[in-house]
Amino acid sequence: MIDNLDRVELIAPCHFGLESVLKKEILELGYEIVSVEDGRITFAGDVEAIARANVFIRTAERIMLKCGSFKATTFDELFEGTKAIPWENILTRDAKFWVSKATSNKSALFSPSDIQSIVKKAMVERMKQTYHVNWFTEEGASYPVRVFIFKDIVTLAIDTSGISLHKRGYRRLVGKAPISETLAAALIMLTPWHKDRVLVDPFCGSGTFPIEAAMIGANIAPGMDRDFTAAEWVKIGNKKMWYETIDEAHDMIDNDVKMNIQGYDLDGDIVKCAMENARCAGVDKHIHFQQRDVKDLSNPKKYGFVMTNPPYGERLEEKEALPELYRTIGEAYRNLDSWSMFLITSYKDAEKYIGRKADKNRKIYNGMIKSYFYQFMGPKPPRRS
Ligand SMILES: C[S@@+](CC[C@H](N)C(=O)[O-])C[C@H]1O[C@@H](n2cnc3c(N)ncnc32)[C@H](O)[C@@H]1O
Repeated sequence: MIDNLDRVELIAPCHFGLESVLKKEILELGYEIVSVEDGRITFAGDVEAIARANVFIRTAERIMLKCGSFKATTFDELFEGTKAIPWENILTRDAKFWVSKATSNKSALFSPSDIQSIVKKAMVERMKQTYHVNWFTEEGASYPVRVFIFKDIVTLAIDTSGISLHKRGYRRLVGKAPISETLAAALIMLTPWHKDRVLVDPFCGSGTFPIEAAMIGANIAPGMDRDFTAAEWVKIGNKKMWYETIDEAHDMIDNDVKMNIQGYDLDGDIVKCAMENARCAGVDKHIHFQQRDVKDLSNPKKYGFVMTNPPYGERLEEKEALPELYRTIGEAYRNLDSWSMFLITSYKDAEKYIGRKADKNRKIYNGMIKSYFYQFMGPKPPRRS
């Protein structure tokens, strides 16, 4: 695992149900899929994969370096298994390391705090033997360790991302119930939308769908403007690798792309926030934002896409207004000639009031909220000659 740094294994968690989108992204980057589980994918690549995955992948929550995996049903086995991992191949003598998260499922060991303290103790023991010291300053780069135990199999990894990857850095201002950037990107990538087709979000809030679509269309890497924990590491990768990855991302941007992306919202203040967020993301020139009620939604173009996250009744008074609101969505959609509509909502009666059964419907968790991704498919445009 980390005994041979020519081939590293990386673990990428993602939204449950959207593993196929992440898998496609990993394969497009040229890496090898090792395993696909619910909500996470393990893949293999060279050391550069750490930087490239962090900078280019749109739909993973973070990228973790897999350090080892073994069976443990007792704390002794957990201690010995952890100590057998060559942590010194990654951690410097001044490394700041701690167990940031421990999860356990269907396993004999289950107390997160005990698991955390045993793993840290075992790592310290290994580091003492390697560096021949009794005490570590821990003033250097950060190495947050994650422990997953499932059916008594322990997997140890170090987080390479730091702040979760959905925090791209552009969303300085948000409205009520914003959708996460990674989820918005994954949902767009799940649809057949392409940059030469119109995309409208009539409930755009802070602008996440239009901004993510514009970034996809202009080929702007999601991680270009943020920091990553592993960029400070010296034993695996180096600054040059990170600079080269950012250069690669800059070279790939298509500044001349022409797109028709629109974001509307009833709330004028949130529309201003969306505009500011789009400016921070470098995509303001690609999106037209405007204050507008969904009842006034219309568009003369054909074969467009509605991509949206309408209110789902977070508050009681909003709940009462939902039947009328979803009826209005249905009417507006019927007036759009040959469009497709994709909407994520936790409102169970969405199809009933829209007045049409969705062609496809996927259960998706939007944070902790069980939601549905309704897909109403319009006709395909005629093939260009
Ligand atoms: C769930 S939020 C959308 C969040 C958005 N996806 C984001 O990432 O910030 C729903 C949005 O619908 C807007 N809204 C409510 N009623 C509306 C209406 N009749 N027409 C247009 N927008 C409306 C609200 O102002 C709110 O911003």
